[in-house]
Amino acid sequence: MNVVYLSPGFPAEMPLFVRGLSQVGAAVYGVGDQPEEALAVEAREGLTDYLQVASFDDEPAVVAEIRRWLRGKSIDRVECMWERLMYLAATLRETFSVPGMSRSQTAIVRDKESMKQAVEDAGLRVPRHGRARTVNEAREVLERVGFPAIVKPIDGAGSVDTFRCNDQEEFESALQKTRHVEELSVEEFIEGEELTYDTVCAEGEVLFENVSWYRPKPMVLAQSPWISMQNIVLRDIHDEFPRPGVELGHGVLRALGFTTGFTHMEWFRTDAGEAVFGEIGGRPPGARLVHAMNYAADIDLFRGWAEATCYGRFSQDGTKRYNAAMIFKRAQGDGVVREHRGLDELLRRYGSHVASVELTPIGQPRRDWRKVVVGDGWIVVRHPELAHCLEISEAFVNDLLVVAD
Ligand SMILES: Nc1ncnc2c1ncn2[C@@H]1O[C@H](COP(=O)(O)OP(=O)(O)O)[C@@H](O)[C@H]1O
Ligand SMILES: [Mg+2]
Repeated sequence: MNVVYLSPGFPAEMPLFVRGLSQVGAAVYGVGDQPEEALAVEAREGLTDYLQVASFDDEPAVVAEIRRWLRGKSIDRVECMWERLMYLAATLRETFSVPGMSRSQTAIVRDKESMKQAVEDAGLRVPRHGRARTVNEAREVLERVGFPAIVKPIDGAGSVDTFRCNDQEEFESALQKTRHVEELSVEEFIEGEELTYDTVCAEGEVLFENVSWYRPKPMVLAQSPWISMQNIVLRDIHDEFPRPGVELGHGVLRALGFTTGFTHMEWFRTDAGEAVFGEIGGRPPGARLVHAMNYAADIDLFRGWAEATCYGRFSQDGTKRYNAAMIFKRAQGDGVVREHRGLDELLRRYGSHVASVELTPIGQPRRDWRKVVVGDGWIVVRHPELAHCLEISEAFVNDLLVVAD
């Protein structure tokens, strides 16, 4: 099994997927724009060979370079978990006749309007929506969408340039603030909780599935620097709260004809219990959520994904034993971290339920949470009962302060 893996060193979790591939016996050919020495040890140890390209920007040049490097070796998979290189991965699959997502399938998971259209065409609930390249088009879409509305980039990430608009004045102001964005999505604003539905699939079959719950909602978080984000992996995904999203997720995967690999869908749960589609990516969730899923089931999904991708099976037991909460801390104050206030007491109280704590060490500069998703550190706590898991998670949100000055 020969696998070409794009960007084995970046983003942060890629080396763990490389390690997973090598653990299931694949020969992994990494292609990246970093020097080999810069790769994390899991990537360096997991790779059979590595090609450093000068840049990924010139697609035909990269394809030619990879072709020369492989010298006729047969390739079974081309894998890429980084949004930015997903088209290149599809081009390589088409060039080397490798199974997996084609360019046209990739377009659907990269373009928020095409994906919503495909989901809507399958009869599933999506927000009223439309695409806009000009201010006038945006106003036309708004006519259909109504207030409250949301304005966001069509291929955005991380809630950047995303605005809720309650009236015409806020809408016009959002259009002003997004003038630099080439193409916008204008949507009906859905009130409700925001959750994920994540899977590992092979040949159209769901082998592992997950629901997690964002607290607070990502857009609120992006606008509120003092809040610690919590992401709760739910143990019982067939309970009343997550179930509508699982059902929606199954429909979405069918509608998109997704076959093999990780998927990460976001959905809204209205107070009436309806699931409304948000977006879907043909890749794993970011923000350490794969780690949180691992802690919930005591498994290694990096390896599980590799096994599913290479051999179409998932031999670990994916049953979740816990609800697992992932908490990201943001330091208070500027400058250097001086204190992890409250940590000792929290560990005394909840230590046996704390799976992992990694904070910016004392004496180091605080980090910019706009650039580093984990901010000033991440904590995983877990408990079989959801109410207890939430209580412990809240305690780490409220009673732990990373103090900088
Ligand atoms: N139709 C909508 N209704 C309510 N909130 C929305 C809607 N679309 C986006 N949001 C908010 O904005 C955030 C970012 O939007 P999303 O489409 O997920 O883009 P990305 O995560 O790529 O930035 C969402 O997580 C959600 O909090
Ligand atoms: Mg999103």
